[in-house]
Amino acid sequence: MLTGKSILLIVGGGIAAFKTLELVRLLRAQGASVTPVLTEGGAQFVTPLSLAALAGETVHRELFDLTAEAEMGHIELSRAADLVVVAPATADLMGRMVGGLADDLATTLLLATDKRVLIAPAMNVRMWEHPATRRNANALREDGILFVGPTEGDMACGEYGPGRMAEPAEIRAAIAAALGGGPLQGRHVLVTSGPTHEPVDPVRYIANRSSGTQGAAIAAALRDLGARVTLVTGPASVPAPTGVDVVPVETARQMLAAVEAAEPADAAVFAAAVADWHVRAASEQKIKKGAGGLPELALAENPDILATVSQRATGRPRLVVGFAAETESVVETATAKRARKGCDWLLANDVSPETGIMGGTENRVVLITETGAEDWPRMSKQAVADRLARRIAEALG
Ligand code: CTP
Repeated sequence: MLTGKSILLIVGGGIAAFKTLELVRLLRAQGASVTPVLTEGGAQFVTPLSLAALAGETVHRELFDLTAEAEMGHIELSRAADLVVVAPATADLMGRMVGGLADDLATTLLLATDKRVLIAPAMNVRMWEHPATRRNANALREDGILFVGPTEGDMACGEYGPGRMAEPAEIRAAIAAALGGGPLQGRHVLVTSGPTHEPVDPVRYIANRSSGTQGAAIAAALRDLGARVTLVTGPASVPAPTGVDVVPVETARQMLAAVEAAEPADAAVFAAAVADWHVRAASEQKIKKGAGGLPELALAENPDILATVSQRATGRPRLVVGFAAETESVVETATAKRARKGCDWLLANDVSPETGIMGGTENRVVLITETGAEDWPRMSKQAVADRLARRIAEALG
């Protein structure tokens, strides 16, 4: 949460400026107040009226604005906030920050502030990769300016690559991290996510339909509450969130090793859909069809990562959370599973194909604890993640 925090938001002149409206909404929903500053370029992309309406505050635009100077001078404006955020930060604005220019309200505030500055760059991929921008980005980092993004993806100009402004939720998370003080500050939380791939031979593998959506959302939600997060992930189809330590793995055995290497942790959430078996003697060469008839795949059991960590005598995370993917008698089966695995909490979900949960964006879970079962209504995986992260923060105290 950002209750009571005040953000000075400088909106630069790029197409990504439209995303800052959503950012303002997210910040205010978390209790922050937002004072918007709109550059001349920014005003080509968002109107002062929409920004003012969403922020619930006057939009500052001019360096020499006598009314504003009488009420609050630009020096004061630059220092009244807890954090200065520039989104989008254009190549031009970055260059002017490096040069220490102060020829408009935005650059003057950036030069006059005594607060930390976080920028969300957004520009065409070639502009981002240009040596001049590289130099400027390095210089700004050396000056202690914080960055969020840019990320890689399709761009408004039709090109693909790094240069896209980070999504509003990521910027909000970076703001929360920059301001510190989340309830999980100083805690380390481990999260497993995604499917595992168990090789049959160098080109084939056994896998499952997990997309890694729920695990990635949990990692992001824990990060937003200030935790240091290690995300041990199998080959997921959704990208890992920024601002977490990502350890990519393929097999269940690699996942266990990565979890053990990342410990100790205060809490661990095992959201991965780990394969129960691996092929006992995976072939070193591609298996050929032919005279030998059909290949026989002998399976061996994989280590149960959740049970191994839960039942460890020493160094066990204080809170261990598992998931149970069930297709029938969800609560009874999951209650028995919690006891068998030895974890503290188990989030049970019904993954019958008709629920659309496996690989989908929504989830409906039952939280099984020592004291009973708590039914959560169907909600987005993001909302499940936020609720779980808050519960973890409460449990760790
Ligand atoms: N899990 C794990 N390691 C495994 C198998 C599962 O850590 N080798 C974890 C999952 O990440 C999840 C929980 O155990 O948190 C439950 O997974 P699930 O597939 O529902 O349980 P299984 O142990 O496979 O039980 P069953 O196949 O009997 O349903």
